[in-house]
Amino acid sequence: MRTAQQPTNISAMNTTPNAPTHRGTAGPAVASVDAATALEDAITASAARLHATGRRPRIAVVLGSGWGPFAQALAEPLHIPYAELPAFPVLHVGGHAGEVVLGRVGPHEVAVLAGRQHAYETGRADGMKGAVRTLARIGVQVLVQTNAAGSLTHALPPGSTMLVADHINLSHASPLIGERGDTRFVSMVDAYDPALRAGARAAVQRLGGALAEGVYAWFLGPQFETPAEIRMFQTLGAQAVGMSTAPETILARHAGMRVLAISLLTNMAAGLSAEKLSHAHTLASAAAASERAVAELTAIVREMEV
Ligand code: HPA
Repeated sequence: MRTAQQPTNISAMNTTPNAPTHRGTAGPAVASVDAATALEDAITASAARLHATGRRPRIAVVLGSGWGPFAQALAEPLHIPYAELPAFPVLHVGGHAGEVVLGRVGPHEVAVLAGRQHAYETGRADGMKGAVRTLARIGVQVLVQTNAAGSLTHALPPGSTMLVADHINLSHASPLIGERGDTRFVSMVDAYDPALRAGARAAVQRLGGALAEGVYAWFLGPQFETPAEIRMFQTLGAQAVGMSTAPETILARHAGMRVLAISLLTNMAAGLSAEKLSHAHTLASAAAASERAVAELTAIVREMEV
């Protein structure tokens, strides 16, 4: 098995005084050492289960609301429920348990993650830690994330897709809290890989479309934002707001993976239109736009250089 390359731009943090290099300190840290060991075992077991399929994906795709049909279009699909992967989350959304679908898009073997755990479900941002690390362990090099998001600009009306160029972490939570060692100080510069973004824009152009780029603001939720919050996010320079993606990007960068993320804008954010916000509206709007969005995603993945 190949291991993913670690980011190299963390050496400036090597002299930090609070970066213990060994485990086994007393007090509450003992419990977290146990938890870290349990997670490590779960990742090893999950990686073994995926490896045993004989599939060797280098690209993983996380599906958000509206992006589900992407999994249905995979060639040679092999379905593995999260229940068989102990490092993967237990999901409580809409009765769906979550699954990995291994398959092929053009020349690439891919692992599709249908279902993610959101920080608003547990109050923790690390719900996808085991899943992301399992992907890195089996040799996945690129994490493609999709999501549904609210638009902060009338230039991106509902139904638009937006490549995430950068994010703002408005939740102030991190999936790396409690992590040991210097690698926790991971750089978030170019977290959304510029070369992958250029490739994605070119792929969508070849389809006759144009892919906008913008900044994604991660809001913890689960309540929607207030109009005052949305005005603040606009002032901060965000073009989209959503309740996912940023934690997995942090985890993927920490694990040495390159990241690409695409938002499907399902609504104007709070206060920007007369439309009433609801999860049902998000899902209905995502379903309406999903055919074109999935066609774009398929082209992007098919033409990706890994
Ligand atoms: N806000 C946050 N998350 C979302 C939205 C929104 O308006 N639409 C879809 N996901």
